[in-house]
Amino acid sequence: MLDTRISRRAALMGAGALAAWLTSPARAVLAAAGQLTIPNFVDDLIRRMTLEEKAGQLSLMASAWGGGAALALNPPQGNSDFPRQVEEARQGQLTGVFNGNGATMARILQSAAVKESRLKIPLIFAADIIHGHRTIFPVPLAEVASFEPDLARRTAEAASFEAAGAGIDWTFSPMVDVARDQRWGRGVEGGGEDVLLGRLFAAARVQGFQGSDLKSPEHMLACIKHFAAYGGAESGLDYNVVDISEARLREVYLQPYKAGLDAGALSFMASFNEINGVPATGNHWLQTELLRGEWGFQGFVVSDYTGDEEMIAAGYAKDGRDATKLAFLAGVDMSMQSGLYRKHLPDLVRSGQVPEALLNQSVRRVLAMKAMLGLFDNPFRRIDVKRESARSMLPKTRALAREAGRKAIVMLKNDGELLPLPRSGKAIALIGPFASGQHDLVGPWVVYGDDAKSVDLATGIRSAFKGKLIVAPGSGVEEPLAGGIEQAVAAARQADVVVLAIGEGANMSGEAQSRTEIVVPEPQQRLAEAVAAVGKPVVVLLKHGRALALEGAVANAHAILATWFLGTETGNAIADVLFGAYSPSGRLPASFPRASGQEPYYYARKSTGRPNPQGPLEPYKAHFRGMPNSALYPFGHGLTYGRIEYSGLKLSSPTLPMNGTIEVSAIVTNRGSRAADEVVQLYTHDKVASLTRPVRELKAFRKIAFAPGQSEVVRFTLRSSDLSFVGRDNRWVTEPGTFDVWIAPSAEAEGVHGTFELIA
Ligand code: BGC
Repeated sequence: MLDTRISRRAALMGAGALAAWLTSPARAVLAAAGQLTIPNFVDDLIRRMTLEEKAGQLSLMASAWGGGAALALNPPQGNSDFPRQVEEARQGQLTGVFNGNGATMARILQSAAVKESRLKIPLIFAADIIHGHRTIFPVPLAEVASFEPDLARRTAEAASFEAAGAGIDWTFSPMVDVARDQRWGRGVEGGGEDVLLGRLFAAARVQGFQGSDLKSPEHMLACIKHFAAYGGAESGLDYNVVDISEARLREVYLQPYKAGLDAGALSFMASFNEINGVPATGNHWLQTELLRGEWGFQGFVVSDYTGDEEMIAAGYAKDGRDATKLAFLAGVDMSMQSGLYRKHLPDLVRSGQVPEALLNQSVRRVLAMKAMLGLFDNPFRRIDVKRESARSMLPKTRALAREAGRKAIVMLKNDGELLPLPRSGKAIALIGPFASGQHDLVGPWVVYGDDAKSVDLATGIRSAFKGKLIVAPGSGVEEPLAGGIEQAVAAARQADVVVLAIGEGANMSGEAQSRTEIVVPEPQQRLAEAVAAVGKPVVVLLKHGRALALEGAVANAHAILATWFLGTETGNAIADVLFGAYSPSGRLPASFPRASGQEPYYYARKSTGRPNPQGPLEPYKAHFRGMPNSALYPFGHGLTYGRIEYSGLKLSSPTLPMNGTIEVSAIVTNRGSRAADEVVQLYTHDKVASLTRPVRELKAFRKIAFAPGQSEVVRFTLRSSDLSFVGRDNRWVTEPGTFDVWIAPSAEAEGVHGTFELIA
């Protein structure tokens, strides 16, 4: 038996280890990056600026080039007249543009700003680089399924390399909103339901985008969004209100933003939602007292797209002028897309309603940031048409997309070890709207990626599989296909095994795509029922931007792989897993409920006073009618091609002293005949506390490679501080008492269990 101690690399991947990483040398570099350095010339420049020029430095607009990629992604707003935008750059009315069209456009605008404007202040170019630029990686939620934060650091770095090569200085990413209601469409952009994973992935992504030198033409500024608690939207309805206790806000929702800040992020985006009646964009407590006062943030805050103006419809601001004043005084330095700041800030200063010193402070932050990005030294440092194409979709970047793709796949079920499929000798019927064709591959929130440059499923399967492949779409995504079911049934009859590629289209998650029922769309469900009735073994390949509620023939398939939106290398990544070139290693970052009506369902829930005991449902206990209060596939779940067993939980002591540590270990064995990567997870539960605690909380995990027959003692070290929580006075407390501890393969699996006492 091998002893496994936490290595430095594992510390990055594992957790409890977050603390170790935060004190590591890498962190010291990032901490330096988190300081805003203000060169002397900035204040000289500010002294020479008119109020209009100052307000211009705080006004960011969607690119208007050729209608603008941005305008296709967001509701049409503002001007779409590029010559007018160039004129605004000349007049010092613009700090920069976002979601523009590459180096050619950037060169025109930048030239107007630095050659023809009065003060020659460079523009900043921003974009939503959410999961890749030209090479598209798995959607962020899928990437979290790897339980490998360092993978996210690497893909963010690769995205940065391509995007910075195309003139982009600043990405509106990472999105780190904790999402516990799968109806919400934007969970796809983030880190899932768990706080620890959310923190680790937020930090890793910031590190990947920013690198250690913001002047590098291979890196760009990260933006932590959406601040704050955008994912807490009531009923999962996008843009909806958030009504939340301060304790939960601090303990759950705020954690990933803070981790991103600690990793050195120097910009934040205010969220659309209100929190307890006050819109985040107009919330002084949030954007100033907490973010700057308590957390020491030094960068700048940008509103979300017309977020300042939206305070009028929300019933918080009287008109545009009032909205400007409220947002600016709350601490939002820069306005995105409404144009309100440049329209109203000069006069608000003249009339004494906004102190000029505050205006200067915001301008100072923005100019200092431009200097840190190297834009004053060379405004064209990231704008280079040749480099733009030379860096696009390089083989090494595509190889990383394939690696990330296969690591994101989660095997939910594999009855009778149907998977992996043999590479030849059999006939496969590949059925479903996602079976072939270059559509719905890159997924939601892609500005520059292209389905047409991606590998579809049929192509990926053909390059791995030498037997007979019959392809039939069977159905549209949300509409039936005439004769589709008949064709699909005929294909299934001719095959030994059916591979059913079904699920959500790319436009069914992302912004404004909340769903009331998180199920496979009805025409595809009908297709699945008809195909299952043929009686051949069925492998379901789910396409999805959220956890789904699986039903009928889909839930009852012999094997199910969660394959999300994997991006450019979709077909190859899936084929790697399907035919066993790669043993699935992903774990769910969000629980799959038994039914849509359970949402919001998340593993770190509270017990209630009437939990149903293990076993059959009992009356007057906390569960929905006829349904256990548990997930169909919980957070952390994922099978491998090995057969992993847990045994022998050991604690180094029955007690953990305050400010001390305790070692918890278990024996993990691969009894199968194939190698497998197992994600070993450590959960705790505080049995009695001054505020009730979740039934389980993930405190640490490690991803470990197991050869067939290999057995290891997997050890974790817990500190008393890992057990603290936000108490009644909204401060972190650590309370003595009894704790359950599990080392387990998922949040709802028993694994191995023990208890210890935290003593004062
Ligand atoms: C989204 C942001 C995005 C911005 C710019 C908004 O609608 O909420 O996440 O960064 O548009 O595209």
